[in-house]
Amino acid sequence: MSLPPGPAVPPAVQTAQWLFRPIRFLDSCRRRHGDTFSVKFIGFATPMVMISDPEAIRALYRSRENGLPPGRSFALEPVMGPRSVLLLEGAEHLSRRKLMLPPFHGERMRAYESLIAEVATAEIESWPLRSPFPIHPRMQAVTLEVILRAVFGVTDPGRLRRLRAQLAEMLVDTASPRLQLRLLLARRLGRPDPIEELRQRTAAADDLLRAEITERRADPGLGDRDDILSMLVAARFEDGERMGDDELRDQLITLLLAGHETTATALAWTVDLLLRNPGPMARLRAELEGGGDDYLRAVISEALRLRPVVPLAGRRLGSELRAGPYRLPPGTDVTPAIWLAHTRPEAYPDPLAFRPERFLAGAPETYAWIPFGGGVRRCLGAAFAEFEMRIVLRELLARCELRGARSAPERIARRNITFSPRRGTPVIVTARRPARAREPTAA
Ligand code: HEM
Repeated sequence: MSLPPGPAVPPAVQTAQWLFRPIRFLDSCRRRHGDTFSVKFIGFATPMVMISDPEAIRALYRSRENGLPPGRSFALEPVMGPRSVLLLEGAEHLSRRKLMLPPFHGERMRAYESLIAEVATAEIESWPLRSPFPIHPRMQAVTLEVILRAVFGVTDPGRLRRLRAQLAEMLVDTASPRLQLRLLLARRLGRPDPIEELRQRTAAADDLLRAEITERRADPGLGDRDDILSMLVAARFEDGERMGDDELRDQLITLLLAGHETTATALAWTVDLLLRNPGPMARLRAELEGGGDDYLRAVISEALRLRPVVPLAGRRLGSELRAGPYRLPPGTDVTPAIWLAHTRPEAYPDPLAFRPERFLAGAPETYAWIPFGGGVRRCLGAAFAEFEMRIVLRELLARCELRGARSAPERIARRNITFSPRRGTPVIVTARRPARAREPTAA
């Protein structure tokens, strides 16, 4: 069985195109080869097949035999740790998912509403008036604080301050494109392993997390706490065992790395799209004034469609996969190209237009909208992320008049594993209103 054709240029050129002009690269592959094509990136021994037809994506995500692509563990395990839910496979992965899903259930999110609103408000208060600044780093500050307080449940101000500083540093290191380049050089040329250096730098944050875990285990009020760490400390696997300290540390770092940059980037893109689309912005403001949130949900779905933050979420085939006319053999690395899946005119007429209305009539076909991946590895934090986005956007629009600081559209840039706004979405706050009483938000 031969793999589908793909770009004729050498792997180095394909890699450079993917790194620096990912949308142009994907679009040209689609125009030449359709929904299914093979790409070759340097550092990878075999080609990767990209798919975007919902039927093929459904088959990929629903087969339990498919495993993780090898690249995921290679880059992430040294930081996330060997017990990370994002990296385990098979029965070990499923048992972690079962234990970790209940705290992320949609209904539970209500417990975090006032905390998220408080974090967002404090951040908004600190923004300059009538002077441009990029909103992406400000959203990163919000999502880091939300994870520290709602997920880790840290309350001690001194520990909060130290963790904030140390983890922020670690997040910059892991998001840096230099890290990927150095990883590649280490792999191909035997240069010093940059991950080892990163691991040493995270040791101090690890100590603080372990202190938090030890205190939480000893807390007689554990059952009354609603942060996610407390629920994980109390939870038991099916065999009655609890997660050990090392594993709790791995899951906390996993939740941080999986949930912080992604949600901040999705927020920045949503603001960017709203500022460039006055019609949807006016409709959203009117709805929020009236206390509704259907249109807000549609705005978020549409922003995640048009600007999917995580562009690839692949699998290594455990059994043959049919993708259009191709039969891909076991062992092939296959990934949905999420931006291509989200911009197929068959599923989304006028696919490049920002039209939240498309999501008002009902959910799209499941595997035509996959910003959170799918199947047994679908994002654990999807409900949390969408809830957090709703609260932050609602606070932002209630408190601020904003406009874009640049007229040129934001280009999509790759930032580590994400599609991020190249300039961080510069904005200008033209007016700020005082806080007012809020209606609770449905989870
Ligand atoms: C808009 C924000 C987010 C986006 C776009 C996003 C996207 C994704 C994607 C694409 C995957 C991979 C799914 C796959 O391989 O099929 C994933 C996995 C995961 N995400 Fe998210 N994510 C977001 C927010 C969060 C948040 C807030 C958390 C937790 C606090 C989180 C925790 C996880 C975890 C633990 C996994 C691994 C699941 C598994 O392997 O079983 N994510 N996410």
